[in-house]
Amino acid sequence: MLKNHWTILRKQYALSVLKVVFDMCGIVGYIGNKEAMPVLVSGLKNLEYRGYDSAGFAIINKRIIIEKDIGKIDDVQKKINASLLKGFSGLAHCRWATHGNVTKENAHPHADCSNKIAIVHNGIIENYSELKEKLIQKKHVFRSETDTEVIAHLIEEFHKKLGFEDAVKNALKEVKGSYALGVACAEEPGKLIAARNESPLIVGKGKNGMFLASDIPALLEYTNKFIYMHDKEIAVITKDTINIFDLEGKKKSFKISTLNWSKEAAEKGGFKHFMLKEIYEQPRAITETIDERLKNGDVVFEKELNLTDDEILKIDSIKLIGCGTSWHAALVGKFMFEELAKIPTEVEYASEFRYRNPILKPNTIVMAISQSGETADTIAALKEAKKNGAKTISICNVKGSSITRVSDGVVYTRAGPEIGVASTKAFTTQLTVLYLLTILFSKKRKTLNDKQIKDMIYGIRKIPLQIASVLNEDFEVVNCAELYHKRTNSLYLGRGVNFPIALEGALKLKEVSYIHAEGYPAAEMKHGPIALIDEHMPVVFIAPHDIYTYSKILGNIEEVKARGGIVIAIATEGDKEIPKKADHTIFIPKTLYTLSSILAVVPLQLLAYHIADKLGRTIDQPKNLAKVVTVE
Ligand code: F6R
Repeated sequence: MLKNHWTILRKQYALSVLKVVFDMCGIVGYIGNKEAMPVLVSGLKNLEYRGYDSAGFAIINKRIIIEKDIGKIDDVQKKINASLLKGFSGLAHCRWATHGNVTKENAHPHADCSNKIAIVHNGIIENYSELKEKLIQKKHVFRSETDTEVIAHLIEEFHKKLGFEDAVKNALKEVKGSYALGVACAEEPGKLIAARNESPLIVGKGKNGMFLASDIPALLEYTNKFIYMHDKEIAVITKDTINIFDLEGKKKSFKISTLNWSKEAAEKGGFKHFMLKEIYEQPRAITETIDERLKNGDVVFEKELNLTDDEILKIDSIKLIGCGTSWHAALVGKFMFEELAKIPTEVEYASEFRYRNPILKPNTIVMAISQSGETADTIAALKEAKKNGAKTISICNVKGSSITRVSDGVVYTRAGPEIGVASTKAFTTQLTVLYLLTILFSKKRKTLNDKQIKDMIYGIRKIPLQIASVLNEDFEVVNCAELYHKRTNSLYLGRGVNFPIALEGALKLKEVSYIHAEGYPAAEMKHGPIALIDEHMPVVFIAPHDIYTYSKILGNIEEVKARGGIVIAIATEGDKEIPKKADHTIFIPKTLYTLSSILAVVPLQLLAYHIADKLGRTIDQPKNLAKVVTVE
């Protein structure tokens, strides 16, 4: 089975770099010469990772027919009356609940009172209660608890006096919040309207019609020509035309981008889950991320970083912001920037940063880390930093995403589309970019000598092959998953650059297996968590050989063993001490200390995956989670 994965991966090395936009809730729209339902269903299935608690369809054919229900798309298809859904134009939606419970009534599409307007929405309407109150006073009758439904009624209200397009534009002028919208009107069945504000939305141009979608995989089967919509834009599409306007009705020019990447690349490629495929893609993803940035023994960021040598010399501090896994990457970045480039660095949750008054000196750089580039808190934090005059840089995986548009400089991780909700290859490529930036800053600021820089470059070049060897030798990981998948708690302990890896290992396990796990700096164990240790508690130590804390970690392992705990240790190949003390040792190849985190996280990703698989979890779509959190 492993060999099989590796063979598939070799083939995937040949695939081009993929870029895609992600968000929560999925939207698809089609208008053209073909029956709409097959297009909507296949498009929606490719978006299911964004939301999977309910789904629905609207077909526009003289009148609007809406069929929807709770459950995943396959279940919803069984529950609805598909024979009613015949026509050449339609909208579809898969939901991740924000306003209103998971009920059939709250599923999208939503309609106005007269069933003339149908709407699918991703985002949050902040002023929905006040709008709803006004509309109720005007005798509108609401059928759901969602914020979305107010837009349908608001459009209906304007449509009493205005045409469809103008009604949408005027309604949106009253709406505060984020939206990616697909709107249809029974009186103008030859038209669909798409609108965007702070939620990703694309328009696709095909041979047999036009499309709208939350992201690219939905449409790959039908077209490779896309228009990335901007905030406060409205696209009016017919089967042959696309026109884009601002909310004042002024026509805007737009660019059609042609993507030359294959549909297969966004599919599972023979792996049981996207998460596993993405774990196995890491050698390729890291190769792509370092490629072209390492030239003639030097790190080159061309213009993407948008920092002059003088600005690099003058940096007096860096603030790294992000959420979840990206925040863990930031913690590793802090370690590297301070240890090697000697730049004081602070890490903050984007959600906290945005509501404080952070001290930003004139030469502070604010760096946001985000896989999707659409995380609401990170976007807001970055905007706040910019407002306060800071120079902003983003490390992001998705070209053209919101974060990249508000940053002064953008460094792309080249991980390709990450579909599994649990982030894996995005994380290791984020660490790769942070490591490359550390080399660049250290060189320019002369905090490391030529030999040290050379060793660092040599070290990162070897990482893809070293990850490949970790992936090939996962026997002990699978064994641990078999032995401990029924445990209900676990601890992850690491130090220095590997403390964030303890946090990340624990987060991965929680997310996909629903087993409670905590990450701690190993030395903190004795200040509390040690009370939890007994023969039921697996403790994962991230303990690669290093000159800093290795001997201390050995002591911590002894402390756990003395209390009957089960020790799973990640150790450096050739380590003779750890296997004597630990119940299980998983080896990673020798590398520089700062790079050990990139290697050490891989077996932890696999451990979480295999445990979740043994428990039969819905690994790519864990309960309550969405790939991109576009809400606060
Ligand atoms: C964990 C995970 C989340 C994301 C977080 C930030 O596996 O995927 O914790 O890391 O929601 O998302 P991005 O990086 O897209 O801003």
